Amino acid sequence: MCGIVGYIGNREAFPILIKGLKRLEYRGYDSAGIALLNGDLSVYKKAGKVSELEKVTDGKPTYATIGIGHTRWATHGEPNDTNAHPHLSQSGNLAIIHNGIIENYASIKAELQKRGYTFHSDTDTEVLVNLIEEVRKQEKSSLEDAVRIALNEVVGAYAIVVLDKANPDYLVAARKGSPLVIGIGEGEFYVASDATPIIEYTKNVVYLDDQEYAVVRRNGEFTVKTLGNVQKSPAIQKLEMSLETIEKGGFEHFMLKEIYEQPKVIADSLRGRMSASQGWIKLGGLSEYINRIDKADRFVVTACGTSWHSGLIGEYLIEDLARVSVEVEYASEFRYRNPIIDEKDVVIAISQSGETADTLAAIELAKERRALIYGICNVIGSSIARASHAGSYTHAGPEIGVASTKAFSTQICILTLIALQIAQQKGTISTSKLREILYELENIPSKIEEVLKLDAQIKELAAIYKDASNFLYLGRGYNFPVALEGALKLKEISYIHAEGYPAAEMKHGPIALIDEEMPVVFLATNQSAYEKIVSNVQEVKARKGKIIAVVNKGDTQIRALADHIIEVPETEEVLSPLITIVPLQLLAYHIAILRGCNVDQPRNLAKSVTVE
Ligand code: AGP
Repeated sequence: MCGIVGYIGNREAFPILIKGLKRLEYRGYDSAGIALLNGDLSVYKKAGKVSELEKVTDGKPTYATIGIGHTRWATHGEPNDTNAHPHLSQSGNLAIIHNGIIENYASIKAELQKRGYTFHSDTDTEVLVNLIEEVRKQEKSSLEDAVRIALNEVVGAYAIVVLDKANPDYLVAARKGSPLVIGIGEGEFYVASDATPIIEYTKNVVYLDDQEYAVVRRNGEFTVKTLGNVQKSPAIQKLEMSLETIEKGGFEHFMLKEIYEQPKVIADSLRGRMSASQGWIKLGGLSEYINRIDKADRFVVTACGTSWHSGLIGEYLIEDLARVSVEVEYASEFRYRNPIIDEKDVVIAISQSGETADTLAAIELAKERRALIYGICNVIGSSIARASHAGSYTHAGPEIGVASTKAFSTQICILTLIALQIAQQKGTISTSKLREILYELENIPSKIEEVLKLDAQIKELAAIYKDASNFLYLGRGYNFPVALEGALKLKEISYIHAEGYPAAEMKHGPIALIDEEMPVVFLATNQSAYEKIVSNVQEVKARKGKIIAVVNKGDTQIRALADHIIEVPETEEVLSPLITIVPLQLLAYHIAILRGCNVDQPRNLAKSVTVE
């Protein structure tokens, strides 16, 4: 959470920083600020979005060729002007931007207070910048050394950039646990939380590793060292992302664009990894470790949020097709509950951003216990991708809307391929069944195109239910995780309370909630448990709940019972989540829009949760 961006070079820094902050706004948007050095150090900060910051800077002197900017997701201290970054040191000479949490800030703050430091904000970041200042004073050291020494004293996670009023020719940046990318231009450098603020200016980047810091200089030189003061020779990588992929491309919102991109990105995630006609599946990462994976006693899937939901679908797929036992764990629980895990286990870590702190920590724990880590990430070069022994990228392209959509679908594609490849290896699937599923997988993009044509119908439905206070989502089997995901989509962007449940569990409690005010969304495309789900629909109808049912085309039984029907093309049951999730994404989107919510940047949320 929090987006940081810095620039040093010959161009005007202000527009680069503002544009960069807008691209990073998905990481946090409760306040924003900027520090520009042009003789004087000017700091502008404002609660609210980057657009509020722009209003503050309007008409003010903003010319500079070095500067830093920050968009915040509050951890310490409420989101107000004072707590917004950048923070200045006591002397006013150092300015810092920070993404992360300094866990031992309270003891450092107390110590600094004894030495005469006063603090204006409630943030841990102001403590860090003063610690750097104090170290520099005590050690009579360079800024670079002071940053290194200070960071060796702090516990926590950070990506920081520090600017020194007395040195307009360099910036110092460092990371541990939060991402940091350096863009290398012609005699200029960009530093940012991800590559989106950089892509427009240069394709050459260096991803800093954990516990590394960099000094970037106006003369075009840069150095990278570890926090142990060991010089590194960083690999310069070429960005493959294009500018169009991070723009809205004619859509009103990123979320809608990303929902509509699903047919394309699903095809991208499958490309070169399977052939239905030849009956093969080959996930590079999996093939490399296939012997160890084949011998695994069980799989443990760990993730958070939407990625956890796709992990649950992964459990159903792997157990169903490959007949290996799977456990699905919230990363935040897994890491703190002393789980039984050893070298015979394979841990599948799923993360769109590849930066989620809890998932990363769960990986570290599983690695300590010698499990094989298989990462499923979207962001290339992300921390989780790099911390994994093997893995597969989802190839969904940048996902900017805070509510995850296309990342979810592509995660399911990878999990399906994993399940099928292991099933093939173990001989738990017949050749004919394997081909049927692969053919159907190839057809999924065109079937999703058909579902997207229901957009207008779903918008009408959204208008009917936009003022509901609660929603229930029910599904069985493969559609149960879809119910969870549909409910999460609705609550996170429309702020309507929603619950997802296995349809049969309803009678053990949630049925008490049902009355004529309660919309109940049924995922009823299952072939295997169809009669059972019809009974569940009857139970809701008997209690006058409003029934919205997602059914296969041509369904008659549920049509006769439901208040509203969303007909989707039939597919193999194991692939049904790829189809049934789409109307739920659209329903959440339209309800949120009709309620006047900011769907791309819902309140209190951030795209990448880099705090525990
Ligand atoms: C989904 O819409 C969320 N905003 C959130 O639950 C997200 O899936 C979760 O934070 C995990 O993120 P990751 O996939 O980047 O690890």
